[in-house]
Amino acid sequence: MSIADIRTDYTQAALSELDTDPDPVAQFAKWFDEALRAEVPEPNAMSVATVAANGRPSSRILLIKDFDQRGFTWFTNYDSRKGRELAQNPHAALLFHWIPLEREVRIEGKVERVSAAESEQYFQSRPVKSRLSALASSQSQPVADRAALEAQYAEVEAQFGQHPPRPEHWGGYRLKPDYIEFWQGRASRLHDRIVYALDQDGKWQRHRLQP
Ligand SMILES: Cc1cc2nc3c(=O)[nH]c(=O)nc-3n(C[C@H](O)[C@H](O)[C@H](O)COP(=O)(O)O)c2cc1C
Repeated sequence: MSIADIRTDYTQAALSELDTDPDPVAQFAKWFDEALRAEVPEPNAMSVATVAANGRPSSRILLIKDFDQRGFTWFTNYDSRKGRELAQNPHAALLFHWIPLEREVRIEGKVERVSAAESEQYFQSRPVKSRLSALASSQSQPVADRAALEAQYAEVEAQFGQHPPRPEHWGGYRLKPDYIEFWQGRASRLHDRIVYALDQDGKWQRHRLQP
């Protein structure tokens, strides 16, 4: 079979203006809950796209750890490639693809660091070996080989044992959305797309886009 012949018709559900909550965060909560209940693999995995100062985009998968009216939160290394890009350009785009539900959610906005207290609280909730890895890894920097990486880990383990402190360069980001789109696959590519965009008065306006 050629790659060009791979296609799925989407027939599970529909999304109408009447089904959607006036509040996009409440709508996201509803769909996230449905993804959990459908046992979608890694429903909390999302693509995060950032843009470097020279206009070059990059993206990677991260795990969402929290969301509420303030925004969508994840944790990472502030000195990583994405961290360096966000320091120069705070605009980012999140993307969820819940394949078994034939759904996509696109979220755009500006990103800020969460408070050190929030980062600390989440860091301390992680398994100790993950905390040690966060200390051992200069994320996105080259390393000679696997053995060198494991030697860095052994070094921090020997130094800190069961109580690794949070490095200052490790913490959370929160994206404050100004655009959220809910996409529901429909038959014959005539999909449903409901968009929420923040207007000048800070109110969410809903409209439908053509597929
Ligand atoms: C399912 C999955 C979950 C991931 N979750 C995270 C995460 O929560 N935080 C993180 O820093 N990297 C996470 N990663 C690794 C990132 O995709 C990426 O490799 C790393 O953050 C470095 O990206 P950067 O060099 O663009 O900064 C995850 C990867 C996958 C596939």
